[in-house]
Amino acid sequence: MERRNFIKTSCKICLLGTIGASLETLTGCGSSYPVLKASVLDKKISIPLSLFNTDTVQYLRPQGWYYDIAVKRNDNNEFIALLLQCTHQDNQLNVNGKTGYSCSLHGSSYSVDGKVIKGPAEKGLKRYQTNVKGDQLIINVV
Ligand code: FES
Repeated sequence: MERRNFIKTSCKICLLGTIGASLETLTGCGSSYPVLKASVLDKKISIPLSLFNTDTVQYLRPQGWYYDIAVKRNDNNEFIALLLQCTHQDNQLNVNGKTGYSCSLHGSSYSVDGKVIKGPAEKGLKRYQTNVKGDQLIINVV
C-alpha cells in the first residue's frame, strides 16, 4: 500500500472509532469490497462526510441487516443511497466495480443509480432519502 493511501485509510479508521463504526472488507459471492459497519438510531444512519470524495461509493452494513447500502456522492454534491437488495426476489446484489450491481440468482443488473439495466427485475433499487447535518450525512432508512 502506498504511504498516501495508508495514511488516508488509517485516518478514516481512527475517525470511525470515534463514532462507533468500523471498516472491514467482506468477501463473498465473487465480490469483495470495503464495508462500513454502521449503527441505526431512530431509523437513521449517520456517517462522516469526510468519507466521501466525488465519485466514491461507500458501502454500509447496518447493524443487524442482511443487505448493504451503497452510498454515492454525485457531481452535483447530492447523495444517492441504495439498498443492495434485488427487486425481483430479494437476493443480495454483487458490486460490479463502477458499473453497477448484479444479481447472481436470475441475472438482473442495475446501474450505479439503481435503475434496471437487465431483467427479470422490473423495479429499480430502493433509494433512501439523505440529508446533510453539520459534518454528517444522515440516511433515513424508513
Ligand atoms: S432474485 Fe435477482 S434476478 Fe431474480
